[in-house]
Amino acid sequence: MAQIESQIDVLNEDFRRMNSDGVNTPGAFLPVAADSQIEFYLACIDPNDNPTNGVVRVQGEGEYTVEMDGDQVNETLTGIKVGINGSQAWPTNRYLNIWVANLADDVLGYAQFPDQYASKPNTDGVVINTTSFGTTGLVDAPFDQGRTATHEIGHWLNLLHIWGDELCGDDLVGDTPFQEWSSTGCPNHPRASCESDDMFMNYMDYTDDACMNMFTQGQRNRMRAVLSPGGIRHSFVS
Ligand code: ARG
Ligand code: ZN
Ligand code: CA
Repeated sequence: MAQIESQIDVLNEDFRRMNSDGVNTPGAFLPVAADSQIEFYLACIDPNDNPTNGVVRVQGEGEYTVEMDGDQVNETLTGIKVGINGSQAWPTNRYLNIWVANLADDVLGYAQFPDQYASKPNTDGVVINTTSFGTTGLVDAPFDQGRTATHEIGHWLNLLHIWGDELCGDDLVGDTPFQEWSSTGCPNHPRASCESDDMFMNYMDYTDDACMNMFTQGQRNRMRAVLSPGGIRHSFVS
């Protein structure tokens, strides 16, 4: 439970730009660094209107393998595919489902994008490897600061990778510089690739948890569009 709560704390720090390592955001990027004004709480009422701590525990079996199309893991975990050791999503129009499991092949996490919601409501949410979830308990460095869930929920709210998943690709966000490809480890700033100054400390890159510290205003607006009237996740706004 402490590990779970540590993850919720990180989400609220990161999405509200209350993260203590926000001081590491390079000065050049401070004008676009954003508080998304989105917050997260463990559910306190379950789908049957009973009190809950928001946590469902299921005995799993071994490691969960992520297929290349990425959908298999949700289907297994939700019980749709295998039907023995998953856990069905709570109604995805009002709960953000976070499946935490032992994922094979060093996969850190996986998310379903909002545009898949209509056709696949039962697998909507994010999946996080146990060892990259939260900041305490079973976490493993360098993915031990809860940033995998920050990144995956960014996808769940329609954010793309900062390099646009192709060479100098477009993430459809204006204030994130074009970047050649994903970054790993903890690069030194400044570093340039396609454009001027790579924003490898953005949560939507692949750097180590301790080296990511920002979303931008453009990312904030893209996430909030999904929650706005007419947006796919508007049902989350009360
Ligand atoms: N590889 C995963 C994805 O593309 C997650 C990467 C998370 N990175 C991190 N530093 N925690 O969704
Ligand atoms: Zn990603
Ligand atoms: Ca961009």
